[in-house]
Amino acid sequence: MTKPVLLLTRRFPDAVEARARESYVTIPNPSDVPMTGVQIVRAAAQAGVQGLFCAAGDPLNAETIAALPESVRIIATFSVGTDHIDLAAAAARGILVTNTPDVLSVATAEIAMLLILAAARRGGEAERMLRARQWVGWAPTQLMGVTLEGKRLGILGMGRIGQALARMARGFGMKVHYHNRNRLPPEEERGAYYHAQEDSFFSRIDVLSMHIPGGAATRHWLNAERIARLRPGSIVVNTGRGSTVDDAALCAALHTGHLRAAGLDVFDGEPRIFEGYHSAPNLVMLPHLGSATVETRDAMGLRCLDNLDAVLLRGEAPPHPVG
Ligand code: DGY
Repeated sequence: MTKPVLLLTRRFPDAVEARARESYVTIPNPSDVPMTGVQIVRAAAQAGVQGLFCAAGDPLNAETIAALPESVRIIATFSVGTDHIDLAAAAARGILVTNTPDVLSVATAEIAMLLILAAARRGGEAERMLRARQWVGWAPTQLMGVTLEGKRLGILGMGRIGQALARMARGFGMKVHYHNRNRLPPEEERGAYYHAQEDSFFSRIDVLSMHIPGGAATRHWLNAERIARLRPGSIVVNTGRGSTVDDAALCAALHTGHLRAAGLDVFDGEPRIFEGYHSAPNLVMLPHLGSATVETRDAMGLRCLDNLDAVLLRGEAPPHPVG
């Protein structure tokens, strides 16, 4: 059988690209420079691509999808998030979309825990001070943070990542609260306190960790009004999507001190960073590292290939369809 053609929009882990080459003719992107929509369409048309192996941030909007050649049957994204893909446009073209759930939950929860710790214990400020050669020695009141033990962690979006974070936070002696569309069954809730209403959630928590998807429905969910309802001295962490935070409002609350600190792994319009964040000492930032472990990125890639193989090699339904 002739091998189907795959367009790899980014450079993926070696083990993943090697497995892809076994079953497909691959069009790689060794430079790893993100492709524009026009470049994706042109490359797909030139090579008669059947599968798009893409990643978070690729501009698979309605315009790009409408212009894809007829040959494209599946868009397999190397991410759990799908806010970079216009799902309605793909459905209208009869193009399947798949993602990579489950395998990145622990890695992303680790980054959320890292940010919670760094924000509470002022890890970013401390590291910046050392690198600037400004440490003059130990002092009784230097860079005092707050301990996590006994604090209430509020998880917004108690899916797989939120639940993995809850397990880790309990190890630090935190009490877990959550706000979600639906209450979880007891075996998943594991004693976490469910808040059906935002008001009771906001009034009880010391740390807010955000795990909600991007897209129009959640744009700027954390706005000035909601930030004002958080208890003074709260900490905010976001490892979901940058678009869910109103940057100007978060930045203002960090500067006034209403928020003690924040930790961000994702940014609205990344890699662009809201200008005010650069001068917020009580903010610790990471460059979208949530799933960035060797184990997780390999697993994500293999999951993409499982989806592609089902559709393009066996003519079956993919194991991880979206929508
Ligand atoms: C995802 O999977 O959606 C992440 O943001 C990329 O690691």
